[in-house]
Amino acid sequence: ETSSDYDTTDVLVVGSGIAGCAAAFQAARGGADVCLVTKAERPDDTSTDWAQGGISTTRDDPESLKTDILAASDGTADPDAIDVLVENADDAVEDVLLETLEIPFDETADGAFDYTREAAHSENRILHVDAATGTHILRPFLNHIDDHERIEVRQDTAALELLTHEGRVHGVLTDEVATGHPVCAGTTILATGGIGALYSRSTNPDDATGDGIAMAALAGADVADLEYVQFHPTAYDGDDPFLLSEALRGEGAVLRNGDGERFMADSHPDAELAPRDVVARAVETEREATGKVVLDVSTLEGEFDAEYPALAQKCRDRGIDGTEIPVAPCEHFLCGGIDVDERGRTSLDRLYAVGECARTGVHGANRLASTSLLEGLVWGLRAGEDAATTDADPKIVETPDLRNSDPELPERFAAEKAIRLRQTMDEYLGLERDPDDIARASAVLRRLKGEVDAYVRTRTARDLYELRNASVVALLIARAASENGESAGCHYVVEDSSDEQMAEHPTSD
Ligand code: SIN
Repeated sequence: ETSSDYDTTDVLVVGSGIAGCAAAFQAARGGADVCLVTKAERPDDTSTDWAQGGISTTRDDPESLKTDILAASDGTADPDAIDVLVENADDAVEDVLLETLEIPFDETADGAFDYTREAAHSENRILHVDAATGTHILRPFLNHIDDHERIEVRQDTAALELLTHEGRVHGVLTDEVATGHPVCAGTTILATGGIGALYSRSTNPDDATGDGIAMAALAGADVADLEYVQFHPTAYDGDDPFLLSEALRGEGAVLRNGDGERFMADSHPDAELAPRDVVARAVETEREATGKVVLDVSTLEGEFDAEYPALAQKCRDRGIDGTEIPVAPCEHFLCGGIDVDERGRTSLDRLYAVGECARTGVHGANRLASTSLLEGLVWGLRAGEDAATTDADPKIVETPDLRNSDPELPERFAAEKAIRLRQTMDEYLGLERDPDDIARASAVLRRLKGEVDAYVRTRTARDLYELRNASVVALLIARAASENGESAGCHYVVEDSSDEQMAEHPTSD
């Protein structure tokens, strides 16, 4: 091989959301040369850019934030991981977001930060820039790392496979050239985000196909808590759904059913500000019983149009002029992922994972609002620092032999299989799961993965790899759901409804 057949770097980061940017930033600060590859063509192709509500701080009361995170998780989150998050939160925000990037978080008339509140938070402690916080953080962050002399950013470059040798990870194979292009690295940090594309309605960009989780799992890394798929209670109920931030309910908006009545107080003492999984199930129940649920923004403390201009515009674009916005739950965040420690280290040597693709233990069965940007920032910095100090030279390893050759790929193969995958996840692994449905999903997904595997490795088509990744992660979610018979947070196990129906309406044959 000649040097042009591969690239080498000290630290390779895969993904350009807040976690990937933070990891690259800190690794470069630690003296490492960094290559960041991202399949995104533009910054708004990442979930971070779509994040609305904000980023949590402690407001000098760390114990109260810890208590809220643990309570929202139904007591299932890992207290040690929560300590890492909360005890590093304010320093990370101060150092990176305020001092380095000078993010213009909203302020009150007297120049203090305008902390907002979201569900299951016991106080106003969330920094935000109207309800478009992610955009306002990510774009300066990407510009900053793009200008950094030690960091090279390659956009529109997808990682296809991890390069492994004797149990160690040595970089990734990218789709930069048709037969695959190796980027060999001393350490590799996955920051590839979530799995929204596994469901037909999601608050994530369309290409959130769980790539890092699939690549890591295929290479033998431990994964955990994959049954905990979080659904956001209030996404626009219609074509082209979009998130209606929980900050709206934090600031006084209320939910009403098809009869115009508020209903959340019947489900939880905190009503609209109950944990997300509780609100999501209640919204779905009311939609089914009364035909629709709306978010009523007339009760907001401020003016909807003035305080949330981006959301108000999205509503107008869809023809909603009044103050009642139809909402339904929608896939939002994967609480589980690649199992990592307090520095983002996975079970594989020289492989890290940060952000949504990682499972730090902070979220347990249900994530508290405004902790995902924070988790990405804190763990990104920690992993970047650790990776830069790991004494690991890039090693050139043998790469999988990808040929763009036979078998001939049926036209529209990937698009049709992706639809089938999403239908299966929607139907059987949504807000409520029953064991027989999970078994049905597993059977369908196993078949689908077999069909996809027949073509992967014969061509580097990105959509084929994305489908491979989605089918791997979907199967892992189904397996995790089938192995956990206990309801907690977003994994809500119900009796087999089809058996009940059959008992009520026995078929004669
Ligand atoms: C929201 O703005 O409602 C989402 C915030 C989050 O998921 O943390």
